[in-house]
Amino acid sequence: MNTLVVGLQYGDEGKGRVSAHFGKDHEWYVRFNGGPNAGHTVYHDGVKYALHHFPSGAVLGKKVALDAGMVIDVTKLFKEWAEIVKHMKGKQPKLYVSKDAHMIQYDHLVRDEEGSGIGSTKRGIAYAYGDKVLREGEKAGDEYAKEYSPLRAMGVKMYSGLPPCIYDGESALYEGAQGIMLDIDYGHYPYVTSSSVFPSVIHNITKRIGVMKAYTSRVGNGPPMYPEVEGLSEAGDEFGTTTGRRRRCTWLILKELEYAISLLQPDEIVLTKVDILDKLNTIGVWMAPDELVEFKTRQEFENFITTVFPQITWISDSPDGELRRVK
Ligand code: IMP
Ligand code: MG
Repeated sequence: MNTLVVGLQYGDEGKGRVSAHFGKDHEWYVRFNGGPNAGHTVYHDGVKYALHHFPSGAVLGKKVALDAGMVIDVTKLFKEWAEIVKHMKGKQPKLYVSKDAHMIQYDHLVRDEEGSGIGSTKRGIAYAYGDKVLREGEKAGDEYAKEYSPLRAMGVKMYSGLPPCIYDGESALYEGAQGIMLDIDYGHYPYVTSSSVFPSVIHNITKRIGVMKAYTSRVGNGPPMYPEVEGLSEAGDEFGTTTGRRRRCTWLILKELEYAISLLQPDEIVLTKVDILDKLNTIGVWMAPDELVEFKTRQEFENFITTVFPQITWISDSPDGELRRVK
């Protein structure tokens, strides 16, 4: 069995924890898009990990692959690796890296710092993908071939082709980064990230899981242009894992979710952070830009949303509660 986890909104839906839950029976975790612009918060054995390159399986002792399609900042990868090793009492992550992933260079960081005005995470993402498409990039294979590459210091195993799990017949969880509304092709261009949020190769995926939060959050410029709900960012502790920026928050946007679901066509959806809604006086859902429906209790909201989206089969609270089956 191979499972795919993709965010249905603007990232930060809680994919890290959902992946940790669904990957229990898988031998591998694979990241296939983006780079250190991602921030996945994972709680394990009482430790909170803020992961950027690594999929959540790294702290669960699984084999992890950074696949072609990703962009890697080797300095940041090394820091993250050292942090994981420290918390895992010296045990090293089993890290595999595709020779075809691309490297983020210092110059990409400088150019992203100057900025294109869309409010990026300033991790050099657009410039690294830009050089890749211009055919001027440097691949992870080139980096590994250097005399003093940190990749070797980390004991990374390099591979070409698909992640080794495919050839070895071992199961994998494919952990998406960002969310469909930030997709380079299908998102709110140009206020998007620079990669696809879908894997480029269908790695025998048998189950697709969409993750949606009980409300909408957005970090960076651009849509959605719905009024912010006062107190929601604070109630949900919506501050970026990667940049610390406060996320703008509003209610769920029904039309955008319908669109995202039409693209992923998930077998199951996990609705996350519903407990946050208890902290607010009313709970809303945007049916259209000028049409808001309101609910008095979280139960009313849950009844409504699981009827509109019957694919919702799991619900979870924040930050580290277990997933509950609703159907
Ligand atoms: P970039 O990916 O750093 O180029 O940023 C492009 C846009 O995507 C900006 O609006 C970012 O805030 C947003 N973005 C990129 N990665 C994430 C993420 O992991 N979570 C939330 N927003 C993200
Ligand atoms: Mg995040």
